[in-house]
Amino acid sequence: MTQLILPLVFAVFVLVSICLIIWRINARKFISSGTVASAYDSWTQDKLLERLWGEHIHLGFYSPNKKNIDFREAKEQFVHELVNWSGLNKLPRGSRILDVGCGIGGSSRILSKYYGFNVTGVTISTAQVKRAIELTPDELKCDFQLMDALNLRYEDGTFDGIWSVEAGAHMNDKTRFAEEMLRTLRPGGYLALADWNSRDLKAMPPSFLEKIILNQLLEQWVHPNFISISDFSNILSNSENSSGIVFSENWNLFTNPSWYDSILEGIKRPSAILSLGPSALIKSIREIPTILLMNWAFRKGLMEFGVYRCRG
Ligand SMILES: C[S@@+](CC[C@H](N)C(=O)[O-])C[C@H]1O[C@@H](n2cnc3c(N)ncnc32)[C@H](O)[C@@H]1O
Repeated sequence: MTQLILPLVFAVFVLVSICLIIWRINARKFISSGTVASAYDSWTQDKLLERLWGEHIHLGFYSPNKKNIDFREAKEQFVHELVNWSGLNKLPRGSRILDVGCGIGGSSRILSKYYGFNVTGVTISTAQVKRAIELTPDELKCDFQLMDALNLRYEDGTFDGIWSVEAGAHMNDKTRFAEEMLRTLRPGGYLALADWNSRDLKAMPPSFLEKIILNQLLEQWVHPNFISISDFSNILSNSENSSGIVFSENWNLFTNPSWYDSILEGIKRPSAILSLGPSALIKSIREIPTILLMNWAFRKGLMEFGVYRCRG
């Protein structure tokens, strides 16, 4: 029996090691916004992400009182929760909203359909602009532009509201990211933002293991750096274009179930992957270690899901 078990254990060890090496070699390191653009172009063109997770590339909101909510439903719920929490719902219909890092337009369409806003979405990915336009019915007031969030081509004070969900973690200059959004927001307008943050690493430095994990979270999904909720709040409140009063919260409790759900989606909808061929299966399995590490980091509090609101 031992004669069989030992080679089997060795074979499994070799296989897992090879998979880990391939996972590491194929990491998507941030080099410039061009690397973010090509990562999202490829995630959009192969349709895998959209087939699996739908039109929203962000976590869902799971209310502690409402169990068994579907992942896609939780994503839509997230948009409504952030609209209400941020005060964006106080803006009248027809208000101009900029969706910064709009993905394939999931949030933009909800903001237009349910709140009557006139939405412009910007993303760094050409493929996302094309797909966002394809997915948007003519009756919705949404348009999509290819644009770098760090260099918004809009006049000061153009928008009544700025919306940005899970885009800031891809920006290498968080101050410039905040300044560009606040510059294009009119005085008195509303900013609603959600992003992935690390805990305050100056107050509580990471252990050796946490450093390794943080490094993987950066390198696997084109993130240049993470900053803490308090650091980003300070950037917003110190801007000459903000009212100076910034509210922020950590929504880990409401969003953490998304991580397991994002893996379960592949099991619930196997045809979404299998119909795209064997390479799609390999690509989706390839993301599982990063999702599990994200899950670990958010549950342990190494990472924090920050939400922010402030007025222009
Ligand atoms: C995780 S996705 C979120 C997409 C969308 N907000 C949503 O919730 O479905 C991150 C988005 O940020 C965009 N992004 C990243 N860096 C950007 C930059 N420098 N300028 C504009 N968009 C950027 C990506 O193209 C992508 O659309």
